[in-house]
Amino acid sequence: TETAAMPKMLSLEPIHESLMVPTNSDVLQALLASDLKVLMACGGKGICATCHVKIRKGQDKLTPRTPREQRTLGFITGADPASRLACQCRVLGD
Ligand code: FES
Repeated sequence: TETAAMPKMLSLEPIHESLMVPTNSDVLQALLASDLKVLMACGGKGICATCHVKIRKGQDKLTPRTPREQRTLGFITGADPASRLACQCRVLGD
């Protein structure tokens, strides 16, 4: 539908920036496209966790965790229920 295809808003903290990104963009690509430096040691394969982000609001507006993402987050310290790997989630809503 038209609504589904509309750009979605991604608000970034603590830098107080908002990005409009195409629906279904992966978060890592959206961040890189806006010239933000994000480490991505594994090249976006969901295995290094250098792209770890925390979703403060709207977890349900992202695609669910993949099994690989789940496994990788299980290996790192500092992961919590808000944690996602930016390369493994896609934006479905604001
Ligand atoms: Fe390696 Fe995302 S870039 S897990």
